Amino acid sequence: GSHNSCMKGLILSHLISFLLPLPFLLVVLLSGLYVLLRVKVALWRYMRNGSNIPSIFAQTVKLHPNKPALIYEATGETWTFTQLDELSNAVAHWARGQGLVSGDVVSLFMESRPLQVALWLGLAKVGVEAALINFNLRHDSLLHCLGVSGSRAIVFGAELADAMLEVNSSVSQSILRFCTGEISTEHLANLGSQHLDPLLASAARYPPSPYRLFYIYTSGTTGLPKAAIVVHSRYYRIAAFGYFAFRMRPDDIIYDCLPLYHSAGNIVGVGQCLIHGLTVVVKKKFSASRFWEDCIKYNCTVVQYIGEICRYLLSQPVRPSEKGHKVRLAVGNGLRPSVWEAFTERFGVAQIGEFYGATECNCSIANMDGKVGACGFNSRILPNVYPIRLVRVDEDTMELVRNSRGLCVPCRPGEPGLLVGRINQQDPLRRFDGYANQDATRKKIAHNVFKKNDSAYLSGDVLVMDDFGYMYFRDRGGDTFRWRGENVSTTEVEGILSSLLCQTDVAVYGVAVPGVEGKAGMAAIVDTTGSFECNSFLQKVQQALPPYARPVFLRISPHVDTTGTFKIQKTRLQREGYDPRLTTDQIYFLNARAGRYEAVEEELYNAITEGKVSL
Ligand SMILES: *[C@@H]1O[C@H](CO)[C@@H](O)[C@H](O)[C@H]1NC(C)=O
Ligand SMILES: *[C@@H]1O[C@H](CO)[C@@H](O)[C@H](O)[C@H]1NC(C)=O
Ligand SMILES: *[C@@H]1O[C@H](CO)[C@@H](O)[C@H](O)[C@H]1NC(C)=O
Ligand SMILES: *[C@@H]1O[C@H](CO)[C@@H](O)[C@H](O)[C@H]1NC(C)=O
Ligand SMILES: *[C@@H]1O[C@H](CO)[C@@H](O)[C@H](O)[C@H]1NC(C)=O
Ligand SMILES: *[C@@H]1O[C@H](CO)[C@@H](O)[C@H](O)[C@H]1NC(C)=O
Repeated sequence: GSHNSCMKGLILSHLISFLLPLPFLLVVLLSGLYVLLRVKVALWRYMRNGSNIPSIFAQTVKLHPNKPALIYEATGETWTFTQLDELSNAVAHWARGQGLVSGDVVSLFMESRPLQVALWLGLAKVGVEAALINFNLRHDSLLHCLGVSGSRAIVFGAELADAMLEVNSSVSQSILRFCTGEISTEHLANLGSQHLDPLLASAARYPPSPYRLFYIYTSGTTGLPKAAIVVHSRYYRIAAFGYFAFRMRPDDIIYDCLPLYHSAGNIVGVGQCLIHGLTVVVKKKFSASRFWEDCIKYNCTVVQYIGEICRYLLSQPVRPSEKGHKVRLAVGNGLRPSVWEAFTERFGVAQIGEFYGATECNCSIANMDGKVGACGFNSRILPNVYPIRLVRVDEDTMELVRNSRGLCVPCRPGEPGLLVGRINQQDPLRRFDGYANQDATRKKIAHNVFKKNDSAYLSGDVLVMDDFGYMYFRDRGGDTFRWRGENVSTTEVEGILSSLLCQTDVAVYGVAVPGVEGKAGMAAIVDTTGSFECNSFLQKVQQALPPYARPVFLRISPHVDTTGTFKIQKTRLQREGYDPRLTTDQIYFLNARAGRYEAVEEELYNAITEGKVSL
């Protein structure tokens, strides 16, 4: 009996420990849903009250696509909402094709007809304004109205061809002329005009891409930067996401020391000022020694970070100011688990708002409840609420793994995978505006991912999800390399080596050794004082890292090139490898048998490349 009840107790306690996190996870899920909803409602309102008629019309079309929108009494012709929408899309594409851009004006000179509506609506879709000219005007008054509008083009009805001819010679030659309606070729030539109707008939019917706010160049540590398109709704979405997810308040003061040419500084930070009315302190250049004093001086309650900033702050000597501030929340990305708790404890920051999301990516996730090390959460109970997924890839080549039906394979908990987000061009939260370069856009989109014929955005980053749905950043795609059959995450190794070396800058990458499978790990370490001692370093490495992750080569540099956000540029380092003739930096090789690092001179280099030394 007692044995039995003991068993029952054991089972019960297991059951409880299993069930306990459930209500908590439900709260996390619901608060996630709430944020999404808030952003959606706010975005919708923004578009409604941003006086954007095309966007309101788009909602109307959705309500009743096949209802008659316009009926033309003269011919009995009927246009449904969908037809009106598609024709105005054609107008938008035609206008862009003519080189008309946001802010340009086009005069419309024609008798009333449904096409007139499609014209101004279509022009509005690409930010071009219409000048609606009274069709009774002739001669001087007509010229006056055309002149004051500053039009770059005129569209006139064939019925007004004679009126146009009367003023033809007085209209500037640089103004484009288009005629709609039945007109002879001879007449068209006389008017120096093109026939609009066939041009519209052949134009695309899908919605034009929305007009753009600015380009942001994505910072690549490898390859050239890409220009990501930021449209108005994306700016709004990113800023609102940060505001609601991290529970910012209108009276918060944000300390923004990130460069304003990136989305973190200019959208997540400055966006709070433009959209939610917060005060933002713009710092010209990050300074680790001034950081907390600035926060005190300006009464900041929120700071922005990237992982490197946290490392630099931790390597500073202790100052009284570091606890005398009112900073409640730190928002950013790249705070690695190895320094997360050290950071919150030492500086007394109550909340870390770690998020993940590239400028151009519609798959942002955020850590809203401060779970250490996680960069976000996606429900495992209701995965379709937010259509992002981790799917299997070959971490070395970044190629998607496909199942027998040709679809991607979702990862199980604990299994690293590529983060992808479903693309839905209709939903402003789910669309992908791409890059200025079409080729770059194409490479970021894959098809048949969640289901047949769908398309999804490839984030390029590898993450891991745990049993509860918390997501952890693992590596930039392509940065992971394989050594002795194991996958080595450069981000993870960088984090660990850097903490062993008092938060100094470290870059880890794989280098090829002839005749050896995989890539050997190499760590470039910044040593400004010339005090680096490789064998005491090795002792610490042996305690901290498994054998396959220990760097086979070291490169000790007094200085390394970093990007504007303090990321070390690895391309050149990787190209130079461990060849001592290509650099004045000291290179070391881990002699595993002898258990020590040895300086790589030309002789040792040759022995390694000829396969005479065992790795
Ligand atoms: C837009 O709507 C929001 C919320 O309804 C409101 O706070 C804001 O003032 C409105 N903006 C304009 C320009 O009407
Ligand atoms: C009307 O103007 C256009 C453009 O300036 C010109 O090409 C055309 O020859 C003109 N027609 C007449 C009849 O002058
Ligand atoms: C910071 O707050 C204090 C007290 O609330 C106030 O006196 C001071 O003017 C504030 N400083 C700034 C820069 O707003
Ligand atoms: C390394 O990653 C590949 C896929 O990228 C996977 O098939 C393999 O099992 C991984 N190896 C280990 C040891 O995790
Ligand atoms: C990612 O972008 C694509 C492209 O528009 C979109 O279809 C997809 O829904 C987005 N995913 C998320 C999670 O926002
Ligand atoms: C996918 O697209 C192809 C070609 O357009 C079509 O034949 C097929 O029926 C589509 N499949 C699904 C499931 O929609």
